[in-house]
Amino acid sequence: MAITDFERYPLTFGPSSIHDLPRLTQHLGGAKIWAKREDCNSGLAFGGNKTRKLEYIVPDAIAQGADTLVSIGGYQSNHTRQVAAVAAKLGMKARLVQENWVDWPDPLSDRVGNIQLSRIMGADVRLDKAGFDIGIRSSWEQAIKEVKDDGGKPYPIPAGASEHHLGGLGFANWAYEVQAQEEELGVFFDTIVVCTVTGSTHAGMIAGFAGQDRPRRVIGIDASATIEKTRAQVARIARHTAGLIGLGRELRDDEITVMEGWAGDFYGIPVQSTLDAIRLTGSLEGMIIDPVYEGKSMAGLIDLVRSRDIPATSNVLYAHLGGQLALNAYSGLFR
Ligand SMILES: Cc1ncc(COP(=O)(O)O)c(C=O)c1O
Repeated sequence: MAITDFERYPLTFGPSSIHDLPRLTQHLGGAKIWAKREDCNSGLAFGGNKTRKLEYIVPDAIAQGADTLVSIGGYQSNHTRQVAAVAAKLGMKARLVQENWVDWPDPLSDRVGNIQLSRIMGADVRLDKAGFDIGIRSSWEQAIKEVKDDGGKPYPIPAGASEHHLGGLGFANWAYEVQAQEEELGVFFDTIVVCTVTGSTHAGMIAGFAGQDRPRRVIGIDASATIEKTRAQVARIARHTAGLIGLGRELRDDEITVMEGWAGDFYGIPVQSTLDAIRLTGSLEGMIIDPVYEGKSMAGLIDLVRSRDIPATSNVLYAHLGGQLALNAYSGLFR
């Protein structure tokens, strides 16, 4: 099997835009920085990285005759918002378990931003007190059971669509999309920087790029603050996805790089480098990033470019995976 053998249900506008970030590049004085914009990849509730993953999962949900997508995330989960949008688009229901993943003192975090949009789109949103964990949760299994008991046909989608057997395909395809865009642009991105938490975004990229002729660095920046779990999950999903798309060899350990140092102590809690990265990117480029995910991966990129860990001769592609809606739950940060 190759990536092109898998059915893809179109939910995005098409290939997401790539553009350079000249003022940020000049400010950092090193590698040339570019962004590929999954934050505006779709008309479905602002899109994001999960919309791409769902393009490969939806055909399976339809084939199984499902009528309810059942998923899970934090109160400000971008993933569950995208599941709600896709359910609306397909004429299905969405049942969402929203856990208290972040101990953040914003009184509106269970009302604004992502969760507000999910409610607007008609999802059945249930709050749960449990804290952050990227693994399989009993509350989600319980929600699946309840949908069944009520006579529905649930289709389970785990957190971030990562522990789903097709969860890595969306970003394996992204790697081929980048290769085609490189030909149009006449650029080779020798380094990719991506935020990683539940793992299948980074893992899919690793699998997709591994099958291409020119090697490159695919650097995952951890934002989970549970680095060992995330590393193991990325490695497992990358190897599984490589098998699915017929890579024909085992991925080496040195192809799987998840770097730590920018997550702070907790998932969802920004640190100084996160806030500096958000302000810098916004003020130099008008590009908005969030305090949970992209602010942390951008902080990593900034340090790696400044320290020349990424050489000045490089073309770096920053994967902007979305996430801005969560800013609504962090209003106190930017007064
Ligand atoms: C905006 C954003 N960036 C990055 C990620 C990390 O992606 P993944 O969970 O596939 O590692 C997520 C989801 O968790 C996200 O919503």
